[in-house]
Amino acid sequence: MDTTRIQNLKNQAIADILEAKTKKELESLRITYLGRKGKITKLIRRLPSLKPEERKEIGALLNDAKRDIERAISSHYSLLTTHYSLENEWLDVTAPGKKPPQGHLHLVTQAIREISSIFEKIGFVRVRYPEIEWDWYAFEGLNMPKDHPARDEWETFFIDTPQHPQLGKMVLTPHTSSGQLREMERTKPPIRMINIAKCYRRQLDISHVPMFHQFEGLVIDKGISIPHLKGTIEYFVKEFFGSQRKIRFRPFHFRFTEPSFEIDIDCDVCQGKGCRFCRQGWVELAGAGMVHPIVLKNGGINPQIYSGFAFGWGVERTYMMKEGLKIDDIRLLYSNDLKFLTQF
Ligand code: FA5
Repeated sequence: MDTTRIQNLKNQAIADILEAKTKKELESLRITYLGRKGKITKLIRRLPSLKPEERKEIGALLNDAKRDIERAISSHYSLLTTHYSLENEWLDVTAPGKKPPQGHLHLVTQAIREISSIFEKIGFVRVRYPEIEWDWYAFEGLNMPKDHPARDEWETFFIDTPQHPQLGKMVLTPHTSSGQLREMERTKPPIRMINIAKCYRRQLDISHVPMFHQFEGLVIDKGISIPHLKGTIEYFVKEFFGSQRKIRFRPFHFRFTEPSFEIDIDCDVCQGKGCRFCRQGWVELAGAGMVHPIVLKNGGINPQIYSGFAFGWGVERTYMMKEGLKIDDIRLLYSNDLKFLTQF
């Protein structure tokens, strides 16, 4: 008996088995090769007629072939059962797959990106300064001496660490205005910075959250005056809210700007009629003003030569006032509620 023929027969059997698409096909291949009248069985039956030395070699070969074919049948059988039992199930391999649900950037991140790109177009450079700051940058250097009542507005979180001998206590940045002094230290005029960062205050109600974001603009150069401030603000409002929106500058008092303003926008939730969010039709979005000479001096800039303006807006409230969003509670932005977030 020819050993090559046995080898070829085994290879042919295994190839046929791997091609089988149904359990039925597999069963009929088992009969073809290993059944009572199967091709391998017939050869095994002829073994007694061989010479003893030939019988030993051929016998071992046929046994191996039988074992390998059985193993191939059984492993292909489990493959057909577990993965693609085409006998019982229908699988359309050309059908389009199911896309996993896709998320999107948080609303505040979207707003920050839009705000940055609006200011980049008119030459503002985006900077970032520490979220944990020294008292000097947050208050004292901004013309708010220790124990001055003006500080109360900022309801600050103090950090329980040793004081710096010159810079004072450590605080969670209560406003991005600390970036004004940092920018004056980093570079010299002309300055055109936009500092967007997290701020922290002990506040929580319909229009306040304890962690929020502000974007702080600072422009310092020779001959900067209020029209530059107004022009910049009006440009931003037109780009972000569209040309129809009304804003107003309200005289205010900040210790680090003189004169100072607050900027309000007509409430989009109630179209300026008055609602639970705005109460009287206007929403306060920002503070602004001309940089105080003491602050310029503290930043190492000569106020006899240079002047500047600054503004600080709340990102969350600004985003909420975009036309048509009708978000009437700032806390919703941080509720992590997908029913709310996926609407935007
Ligand atoms: C300031 O923080 C000043 N640093 C702004 C400024 C900058 C004035 C530069 C002059 C020159 P105020 O505390 O009003 O000002 O905050 C500014 C804006 O931040 C508010 O109008 C509001 O939009 C937002 N804001 C303040 N506190 C919160 C809060 N707890 N939650 C959400 N937004 C807030």
